[in-house]
Amino acid sequence: MRIGLLTGGGDCPGLNALIRAAVKQGTFHGHTMVGFRHGWRGVVDGDLFPLTRDHVRGVLPLGGTMLGTARFHPHEDNGGIDAVLETLRHERIEALICVGGDGTLEAAGKLAEAGVRMVCAPKTIDNDVWGTDRSVGFDTAVSIATEAIDRVHTTAESHDRVMVVEVMGHHVGWIAVAAGIAGGADMILIPEDPFDIDEVAAQLRHRHKSYASSSIVVVAEGAVAKPGTLDFTAPEGPYGAIVAGAIGERIKIELQERTGFDTRVTILGHVQRGGTPTATDRLLASRFGVAAADAVDAGASSVMTALVGDRIELVDIAEVAGRLKTVPEDLRRVAVSLY
Ligand code: F6P
Repeated sequence: MRIGLLTGGGDCPGLNALIRAAVKQGTFHGHTMVGFRHGWRGVVDGDLFPLTRDHVRGVLPLGGTMLGTARFHPHEDNGGIDAVLETLRHERIEALICVGGDGTLEAAGKLAEAGVRMVCAPKTIDNDVWGTDRSVGFDTAVSIATEAIDRVHTTAESHDRVMVVEVMGHHVGWIAVAAGIAGGADMILIPEDPFDIDEVAAQLRHRHKSYASSSIVVVAEGAVAKPGTLDFTAPEGPYGAIVAGAIGERIKIELQERTGFDTRVTILGHVQRGGTPTATDRLLASRFGVAAADAVDAGASSVMTALVGDRIELVDIAEVAGRLKTVPEDLRRVAVSLY
């Protein structure tokens, strides 16, 4: 069987490990693997190349994706679904392995409905894909953000400053909460819990009056203020992605004004998405890659590989599409308990 492989949406560390595993396992089952360039765009355009074991040699520790990626969804493009079907027919491709986040998985669901044999695997540093405990890329992003917070601590202490650290997380605060707890943040602002800037400032004043001379405030780029408390809407780029830096800068200004403390902001941005994946991400990606190739070989369709506890399982794409996995209450409580 000829099996197509694509990565869609924003890139993340671990994608190459996943591609390598899927190619090795697919080849082991006797299938021919091909890669589409730049996600669904490549499928629409018929832009593909062979993927053999030789092509994936040495890619395991590399960041990014050797296939390229794009924020392009065929179901939102006029004639996109038909173009995908035509490419698959023309190239005699019988199944697709599609690695992506919410947007890419939604497209996969539409294609599955149109009759394409589809197996997906979740990736996004945001960790917001429903149905899986972890997505590829999250662990690396948390490691990078934690190291950054550690570094910001020492300079904040030297200068008696408030440091605002903005991390990624468009709709959810997984990176902010995980790296904030691991890095010892003094406050964490996330989309799940709208903040009141006056309360944040009051808490910082209390800290500095009672026992601290510096503070670290971690803010997810998608954090929102409680209605009526701060007139702020994050600017959005193409495809609705948040423009990094806006919320961090604004919070810095508001806190400086309200507290009088010397305040600085650090925007981590795409540093969190680049570079070599952690061992944990390589392991998860490798497990997903093998599971995806096994699933295709076994005749599965319309499913996504998922980490559930310690096991890799297959979940129905229909259950995943359009849903967001937010940070659970108990983890948010741990973060607040440690302020
Ligand atoms: O979806 C992952 C993510 O890193 C979000 O956290 C962020 O808002 C977005 O991608 C940035 O997208 P882009 O790279 O297109 O600017």
